[in-house]
Amino acid sequence: MDRIRIKGGRRLHGSIPISGAKNATLPLMIASLLTEETLVLDNVPRLADVGQLQRILGNHGVDVMVGGKRPGETPYDGQTLHISAARIVDTTAPYDLVSKMRASFWVIAPLVARMGQARVSMPGGCAIGTRPVDLLIMALARLGADIEIDGGYVIARAKNGLKGGEINFPKVTVGGTHTAIMAASLARGTTVIENAAREPEVKDVADCLNQMGAKISGAGTSRVIVEGVSRLSGARHRVLPDRIETGTYAMAVAMAGGDVLLENARPDLLQAGLDVLAEAGAEISATNAGIRVARNGAGIAPVEVVTAPFPGFPTDLQAQLMALMTCAKGTSHITETIFENRFMHVQELVRLGAHIQLNGECATIEGVGKLTGAPVMATDLRASVSLVIAALAAEGETMVNRVYHLDRGFERLEDKLSACGAAIERIAG
Ligand code: EPU
Repeated sequence: MDRIRIKGGRRLHGSIPISGAKNATLPLMIASLLTEETLVLDNVPRLADVGQLQRILGNHGVDVMVGGKRPGETPYDGQTLHISAARIVDTTAPYDLVSKMRASFWVIAPLVARMGQARVSMPGGCAIGTRPVDLLIMALARLGADIEIDGGYVIARAKNGLKGGEINFPKVTVGGTHTAIMAASLARGTTVIENAAREPEVKDVADCLNQMGAKISGAGTSRVIVEGVSRLSGARHRVLPDRIETGTYAMAVAMAGGDVLLENARPDLLQAGLDVLAEAGAEISATNAGIRVARNGAGIAPVEVVTAPFPGFPTDLQAQLMALMTCAKGTSHITETIFENRFMHVQELVRLGAHIQLNGECATIEGVGKLTGAPVMATDLRASVSLVIAALAAEGETMVNRVYHLDRGFERLEDKLSACGAAIERIAG
């Protein structure tokens, strides 16, 4: 297993290209199941999760062709996927595939909408909590699917197709909203989705579906209306930039100090995160080329933050912000409201010398003068990268183990940081 070694104390200077968003790419790839024609996706990040979803789609008979390099492209340019679900050969998504990546459960929506049936393994728990799928199932039932749960599988049937209906989510759910929009796109009649997730990735997928011939309005707001169509066609779509990768490197610069341009980053995707960083003492400026983040001289100020669905502060940046606050001049409070158990980074940050106390969903972080390097590991993607951020400011050497979690969601992390002067390297294991 690969490890990452970081020697802390170097400031970051230069530019970091921001990749396409993982959490848009995954549902976009799944949306390819809705059409017999080819969906072409540009700016797809090279991530382990993308490869895993390719295997899952392959099991349904989907062909994924990865476009070759074009002249003038750098290793940081996203890849192009040509995805063809001309013939779906299997409507079952088995446990051994779905259990590796939760989002693969979402294939249930296009499969039942197009094929009239789907049998998809329940994803089970994961490192950040129980993460049930009851609301996704509720949405499909509201569109007329018969649902049965048998042997750990959800079986959805709609022999005569799905029909439009009203879906009112009692809780904001990104996966539930993706599922509802995809299923409703091929349902007969109109679907109204209330309390929909407003995340930019939901809008990105809806934009792509509309290019494919869907009739979706209101995506990006909490009320989405979908008029079903009988078939969808192919399209070409460019994945939007990854706002969580953007926020992560912005926190890294705030932690280490320095001045970095986050190329292609879009401030409108991350206003709440950028506001918190500014409050913490980072200088943030939007430029035509992306977002510039700098911290020179000034210390890190403590903050009070509560995670919330978009446009609030994202749960996917909670661990990274906590790493930054370990070195703040004062006491911070961070409350996690989206997932009940997303604090695995806490004990590892403590191993680096952080002072953090947990009380239910609230973490109190008392800033310390310095962190000290140590061997650490984490069991999820965002927790792992928070350890990298902490290590950038820690005295001495930190070894981050179980790097495969980072590879699920960060493309060429060590290259991007070392190009800006960080002492970071991957050690093949
Ligand atoms: N929930 C339910 N029932 C459901 C579905 C969700 O109770 O049927 C609960 C969850 O347990 C959680 C809350 O609703 O407490 C929100 O979960 P949501 O459905 O929004 O999460 P998700 O769709 O499974 C996506 C991202 C996550 C991100 C969350 C929240 C992808 C592939 N995943 O997950 O990203 O944290 O939305 O924004 O888009 C990550 O990238 O590291 C990651 C975990």
